[in-house]
Amino acid sequence: MAETDESRRRLLTTAGIVGAALFSATSGFSAAAAEKGKKRGEEKEVGAVEDLMREHGVLRRALLVYVESVPKLRANPGSLPTDAIARTAKLFRTFGEDYHERMLEEPYIFPAVKKAGGAAAAYVDVLKAQHDRGREITDYILAVTGRGTIGTGDAAPLTRAFESFVLMYQNHTAREDTIVFPAWKEALSERQFREMGERFEDIEHRQFGQDGYEDAVKQIGQIEQVLGLADLAQFTAPPPPKT
Ligand SMILES: [Fe+2]
Ligand SMILES: [Fe+2]
Repeated sequence: MAETDESRRRLLTTAGIVGAALFSATSGFSAAAAEKGKKRGEEKEVGAVEDLMREHGVLRRALLVYVESVPKLRANPGSLPTDAIARTAKLFRTFGEDYHERMLEEPYIFPAVKKAGGAAAAYVDVLKAQHDRGREITDYILAVTGRGTIGTGDAAPLTRAFESFVLMYQNHTAREDTIVFPAWKEALSERQFREMGERFEDIEHRQFGQDGYEDAVKQIGQIEQVLGLADLAQFTAPPPPKT
């Protein structure tokens, strides 16, 4: 069973779009996906780009947790709720780095965008380097928060790690949303694009054994509750000074 799953994973990772279409047609594998698509269709279908962008939404909510940690770290490092920060970093790892980046963007989107050429292609190497740097920083955040309380020596470097990670990912996801994903969609035919949407659904299901996105939204919502970040109204900006 594991071997079958592994073989399927390898096939899906390496096969081209045409190969995948053939695989779908002959294996019955896509029958489940089609059925799932049908059910989803009743709820209104989510296309591949919308899927990727709403995954960014989960990651941006994780970035907000880091942003809100910075003043706490500056005021009193011992007050940082390390459990909730570690949960956030684990979610960023499993949902953002291991799934969204390694299973969707790096094997499917980046190669297609690079091959298509043009302005968007020039972003691919930088985006990949940022994925790699992000993983290093997440390793660091997990290591420091895993120790329980934040020591005084860790406060300043952890603050810098949060700030630089947030700035990098705000730029990273914004460029993907506005430049790279549109270029990827443009490079595919209507049919190829639809097939990629189905394939992404299958990968998500195989990776998480359930609806990974719904679960990630639930997890970040719980973290926000614990940290007192759940009420959106608190983020409404104050009125500007009178001029
Ligand atoms: Fe990315
Ligand atoms: Fe992304």
